[in-house]
Amino acid sequence: RSDAVPQAPEDPLFGLMAAYRKDTSDKKVDLGIGAYRDDNAKPWILPVVKHADQKLHEDPNLNHEYLPIAGLAEFTNASQKVLLGVDSLAIKEQRVRSFQTISGTGAVHLGALFLAKFYRQGQEKAVYLSSPTWANHNQIFTNVQLPIKTYPYFSAKTKGLDFDGMIDAIDRAPDGSIIVLHACAHNPTGVDPTQEQWKQIAKTIHNKNHFPFFDCAYQGFASGDLARDAWAIRHFIQEGFEMCIAQSYAKNFGLYGERAGCFHFVTGPASDASETANRVASQLAILQRSEISNPPAYGARIASLVLNDDKLFAEWEANLRTMSGRIIDMRQKLKAALDKMGTPGTWDHITDQIGMFSFTGLTEKQVLRLREEFHVYMTKNGRISMAGLNSKNFEYFAKAVDQVVRE
Ligand code: LMR
Repeated sequence: RSDAVPQAPEDPLFGLMAAYRKDTSDKKVDLGIGAYRDDNAKPWILPVVKHADQKLHEDPNLNHEYLPIAGLAEFTNASQKVLLGVDSLAIKEQRVRSFQTISGTGAVHLGALFLAKFYRQGQEKAVYLSSPTWANHNQIFTNVQLPIKTYPYFSAKTKGLDFDGMIDAIDRAPDGSIIVLHACAHNPTGVDPTQEQWKQIAKTIHNKNHFPFFDCAYQGFASGDLARDAWAIRHFIQEGFEMCIAQSYAKNFGLYGERAGCFHFVTGPASDASETANRVASQLAILQRSEISNPPAYGARIASLVLNDDKLFAEWEANLRTMSGRIIDMRQKLKAALDKMGTPGTWDHITDQIGMFSFTGLTEKQVLRLREEFHVYMTKNGRISMAGLNSKNFEYFAKAVDQVVRE
């Protein structure tokens, strides 16, 4: 009977968003959910998305028919190229199979479901997540009954990467574990390994015969350069790994609610790699059909128009630089404001960290005070979405931080 169903807690992030919306203060600041805002704290429809939208609606053949199970082919093919590079050997050797998904969440889920069913069948397997990681990773892998373990990632002391801890844990994980990695702009910490560190991570994963699973939700947000933000993924592919990649277009296209994303399975180089990839794809198709039948069209059509048109693509890159540039500017302004007030502690990490988020180091108590007294909304772990800051509110936020830190 349903009366035995226990009450579940509200999702912390969406709960925070609802609380922010309810707050009637004109001072309120939303630093919660990772969604880009312009300098007026408003959602920003990328100009390139507006142009693609116009183009889409001029198409006389547009209709509402089903997409294929794997989604829009122009979209998934272009998605491979933007992630792996136009000259990718894996693409040329037909070792990549791609499925359009319900954004990044759907891509992580499809990969998780596939691995739960087919990876190391009948053997022990565990998924290693960074500590901390995007909260939904835990839920998604748990839902498919994969046991979760963690590897150290963030050093509270340096507010940077705990590289030794990370390598050590990956090295000690049982052979053949699944290692989830954030391709760039790590959520929630804003801390990424350097290219040299990525090389060592790849070596350790290779030595232990682990299986890498990349989550790429912020391509273009970390450095403003799509290729550079995909460097880690491309390096792992060069090293011959078989792997899963989840790709989201929520942030880099501002297509949050349209749920445009892609799941890629890459097989390692081998003479029968392409046939192996076909068998993998045949199973993915069955999983996709039973879960969502086929993916939604609109967001993928928009992204596809941009990805397949040189002029629109260049405009997209410019829009990405606008977003990442404004975030970098806010990092500098926030740090300068805190330094100027002599706020206790060091604040270099605000500008050292990259991407959408900064892991401030504020305690849960301080976070709650910021919310109750200053109407500043951020997650309890001290993460702020930098895009919620703008030229009008960064000083207010800095002063609020200064006050809670001093007590
Ligand atoms: C976030 O972490 O704020 C975003 O990825 C939004 C989400 O779905 O959790």
